[in-house]
Amino acid sequence: MNSSNTENKASNCGSSPKVENVNDKNHWETVYSKYDHTELGWFEENPQPSLDLIELCNLNSNARLLNVGAGATTLVDKLIDLKYINILATDISEKALTVLTDRISSNKNVKTIADDLINPTILSDIEPVDLWHDRAVLHFFTEEKQQTTYFDLLKSKIKVNGYVILAMFNFDGATKCSGLPIKQYDSNLLTKKLGADFELQKAFNHTYIMPSGDAREYVYTLFKKIK
Ligand SMILES: C[S@@+](CC[C@H](N)C(=O)[O-])C[C@H]1O[C@@H](n2cnc3c(N)ncnc32)[C@H](O)[C@@H]1O
Repeated sequence: MNSSNTENKASNCGSSPKVENVNDKNHWETVYSKYDHTELGWFEENPQPSLDLIELCNLNSNARLLNVGAGATTLVDKLIDLKYINILATDISEKALTVLTDRISSNKNVKTIADDLINPTILSDIEPVDLWHDRAVLHFFTEEKQQTTYFDLLKSKIKVNGYVILAMFNFDGATKCSGLPIKQYDSNLLTKKLGADFELQKAFNHTYIMPSGDAREYVYTLFKKIK
């Protein structure tokens, strides 16, 4: 790795240097093409914090579970193991979704959607879901307008009594992820962003250890849509 990559790695959540002069979609396509997903700074062999929160939701096996910015996450494999039959995984990177579907042998209970959360086309038309799960995606939307688009989409897609899991870098965390600047969150800020229709059920901080051995500080939150 050259010296500029080494410098990037120090401030990253991943071993994936920022690709300059390309739009964000190209950034993510390059990341997932260049690196094995198990090397990436957000890879989890066992996404236990998310699984613990999903267990609290007590969802039926046919509940619609939407994993946004899913990348190639192993959470999908775990949801298949738990016998959920209605799993949606969406990401801006088609390459990431190909890595995912190849790994799960195009499991019939998983549907993938390539779309941009802050310029949604297909996602705008999907049926409401019982669970929205986002680990380390919202925090890339540093502009107010992007956050508004994201939360408007989220609020329009959760069923009443449905759940939202948001896991982002917390205020003790890094300020960059995959070489891109991020916005840090805590449960208060996420509560404010979601508004009065959503009730916080649980929140905790979690130290995630990257494949490199470095630590990254996350806040995990579970909300219920109450009206
Ligand atoms: C840090 S990774 C986290 C991946 C996954 N959630 C996990 O925990 O393993 C961020 C993911 O967000 C996706 N992403 C970034 N910007 C996006 C956007 N505007 N719309 C949808 N997905 C996006 C990337 O392609 C990448 O897979």
